[in-house]
Amino acid sequence: MKVALCGLGEIGQIHLKAIRESGHELVAVLELNRRLAVESVGDDVPIHTEVVEMVELTEPDVVDICLPHHLHVPIAVAALEAGADVLLEKPMAMDLEGCDEIIEAADRHGRKVGISHNQVHFRPHRRLRELIDSSQLGEIRAIYERLWMGGKYGGWREDSSQVGGGLLMDAGVHRVYMAEYLGGPVKAVTAVMDEPRSEDAFVLTLEFESGAIGVIQGGYHGPDGVFDDRIDIQGSAGMAEVLGCEAFFEGDLTGDLRLRAQLGGEWSDDPVTGDWDESVTDSVKACLDDLSQGNEPEVGMAEGRDAVAVVEAAYRSAETGKTISISDLDERAS
Ligand SMILES: NC(=O)c1ccc[n+]([C@@H]2O[C@H](COP(=O)([O-])OP(=O)(O)OC[C@H]3O[C@@H](n4cnc5c(N)ncnc54)[C@H](O)[C@@H]3O)[C@@H](O)[C@H]2O)c1
Repeated sequence: MKVALCGLGEIGQIHLKAIRESGHELVAVLELNRRLAVESVGDDVPIHTEVVEMVELTEPDVVDICLPHHLHVPIAVAALEAGADVLLEKPMAMDLEGCDEIIEAADRHGRKVGISHNQVHFRPHRRLRELIDSSQLGEIRAIYERLWMGGKYGGWREDSSQVGGGLLMDAGVHRVYMAEYLGGPVKAVTAVMDEPRSEDAFVLTLEFESGAIGVIQGGYHGPDGVFDDRIDIQGSAGMAEVLGCEAFFEGDLTGDLRLRAQLGGEWSDDPVTGDWDESVTDSVKACLDDLSQGNEPEVGMAEGRDAVAVVEAAYRSAETGKTISISDLDERAS
């Protein structure tokens, strides 16, 4: 397939590596920073600064979008209108209206959209999902996820109008889609935050449709260099914990075992390993493979929208002090 890549910043560099490794053809990049673009792709690949011109001139099959959040909807819609499929970095959009605009454009033009929820491809997380699917943990009763970070990244992430919120809408989205990947659909959310929609700290209590409960707790207030995103699961027949995908807190964990489970009384390490970069490249390659075979991506518009719905419910809960049910949001959106 012919792939165009938009944004060559932190995550765009890993998507670039994945596209090159996938064997698909990189036909164009969209990047305002020309020096960065030339350093990244040399003179072989056309560099554009305007999406409509890029898709008209290079006719990509897929447009891969690694841009700040406020650009996800306009760039995705322009790509879909030009007849391309889309791969979008998280979050799908800054709000539910944005998600619905993308869904309508994809439907109108008969195109597919994949969302890079890369942590779904972190191998210890997939192994944990296998333990759940094979009923080895029994019935899932509780999921606890944390996101302890320190040192803000700066740039557009400091501007809530470009993020669509604060920490929850940025790195917190990984916690939200992982909760649903492991626990199934969320039906209601109760949240407390320091400043909803530009938050540095949050606690979400989740009620899953299955009857399980969950807690996601995150904050920027750790020392510099911290990114601790571990997950604990309590099941009726066992328990499991995964050291985070990006757990810098513990030093460099590349190649280390990350998943421990207690099944039948004994805690033991699972032999599966993985790291963050690999989860991103696996996520990009899996989506491109699905699209090249004409399949719906494993993580698509429904999963992308579901994650944004939980974030929106959390904001409304923190603003009103009430529990917000996801079905109420959908009624208001329709
Ligand atoms: N999956 C992950 O773990 C992960 C990690 C980091 C970022 N992300 C996501 O990836 C996306 C990008 O984040 P990032 O950290 O790579 O950002 P970044 O700031 O490092 O890179 C963004 C790039 O986009 C370019 N750009 C900005 N506006 C543009 C425009 N109008 N046209 C063309 N180029 C433009 C910038 O010059 C920059 O090079 C966001 O959606 C973010 O949430 C995901």
